[in-house]
Amino acid sequence: MESATVNVDQSIQRAIEDLDFDGMLRTYRDQNEFIFLDRFLPPGVMDQFLSEVERVRPEVNRNYIPGHKKGGSVSFYALLSKAPAILDLYRSSALLAFLSRLVDAPLMLCPEDDPHSCALYFYTEPGDHIGFHYDHSYYKGNRYTVLIGLVERSQSCRLVARLYKGQPSREIREMRIPMESGSMVVFNGDKLWHAVTPLEAGGERVVLTLQYVTDQRMGPVKQLFSNMKDAFAYFGPAVFLRRRPAHKRG
Ligand SMILES: [Fe+2]
Repeated sequence: MESATVNVDQSIQRAIEDLDFDGMLRTYRDQNEFIFLDRFLPPGVMDQFLSEVERVRPEVNRNYIPGHKKGGSVSFYALLSKAPAILDLYRSSALLAFLSRLVDAPLMLCPEDDPHSCALYFYTEPGDHIGFHYDHSYYKGNRYTVLIGLVERSQSCRLVARLYKGQPSREIREMRIPMESGSMVVFNGDKLWHAVTPLEAGGERVVLTLQYVTDQRMGPVKQLFSNMKDAFAYFGPAVFLRRRPAHKRG
């Protein structure tokens, strides 16, 4: 049987070779470290991811923070045992090399006990959304978010990016982005002010999130805050059981 690792990594490599890298790099920098690549991943590899989405659907943890977010999430821990192709994508050396070139820094995976490192977000019930926020880095270096569209059966549930917020010299530019299957965005979590607008009845949206960092270390206070956020806003209190105390982390 052909290894899923070879399959996913080779598909990524081919998709990267088809890009106009220099043009994309200019856009990424001009957009304050944000890029949208429409249908970047080919249908063959997406089919594998979609079958794994169905396999982990029973593991969805629903969460609700009044005034900020409502939706479902599946953590890295659930994906570890049930989603090998998605894990291959997260760990793809071709993707990691491409992203490192794009952000001009050697990127690393998050530590294995970070439930957010590779996770799924499910928008399945009317009103599921998340309000405007940054994906702040709790790590000592930068944190980059990669989002991959998996299911986009909605007219109202959209990623909304407000570019240049916090830059007095530039006017804010808003983009509403349909994350069709295979589309990808990459951004510096401390720079992009973004939200997801509410889902309508009968719609569905599923997105894969991948997190990469420039430094895998995290201080104890930020570790505590990160754990609280993961437990109550995303994956449920069980994630506490999986994380090592900050003083034992590398
Ligand atoms: Fe976010």
